[in-house]
Amino acid sequence: MTEPVEIYRTPGFPVDYQFWQRWSPRAFTGEAIREDQLMSLFEAARWAPSCFNEQPWRFLYAQRDSSDWQLFLDLLMEGNQAWAENSSALIVVLSKKSFSHNGKPNGTHSFDCGAAWQNIALQAALMGLATHGMAGIHYQRIADELNVPDDFNVEMMIAVGVPASADTLEESLREREKPSDRKAVTETCFAGRFPED
Ligand SMILES: Cc1cc2nc3c(=O)[nH]c(=O)nc-3n(C[C@H](O)[C@H](O)[C@H](O)COP(=O)(O)O)c2cc1C
Repeated sequence: MTEPVEIYRTPGFPVDYQFWQRWSPRAFTGEAIREDQLMSLFEAARWAPSCFNEQPWRFLYAQRDSSDWQLFLDLLMEGNQAWAENSSALIVVLSKKSFSHNGKPNGTHSFDCGAAWQNIALQAALMGLATHGMAGIHYQRIADELNVPDDFNVEMMIAVGVPASADTLEESLREREKPSDRKAVTETCFAGRFPED
């Protein structure tokens, strides 16, 4: 995508540019990224808030030039593999289901991981990289093949890459390769009680 994001997105209220300039492309150059770049993404995740400061997120990752790359790529559903094979790193997001201080169920483990993933996405965008979250993944195989312990939930995978021109994609993906819009704030935020239809 070479066109500016402003063509597709207009904030309804003043908000920092970083929130609406981030989007999820599928066109990646196939370049590798450095380990320290990846660590900056995890560092951003580290500072996410979480219930009881449990920090329930765990990340398993494979760089495209590593021996684990094919293993991770095979854990994506075919539709995602088609474009994610040109990303630079694949990340599996896990969440710890119980609190460490008392062993009781942590009702916000997935929610807290969502905050951590968003930090990764925003930090990547600030670094000129792009992320694309994926639920089209083989959840049970991820748990089995990556030795995920029972107390951890497989949440999603993330493709991290260097953005490329939409022209590098096959036609069906090329047509979809643009920033999406959003519902208006008034459709999702209400003063007081939930509105009746
Ligand atoms: C948890 C999660 C799972 C997603 N799964 C997929 C997926 O499997 N394949 C895909 O192409 N996009 C996937 N997406 C990308 C969303 O479709 C995308 O974030 C959404 O349409 C908003 O667009 P934007 O991120 O470009 O702003 C996923 C995003 C999230 C957060």
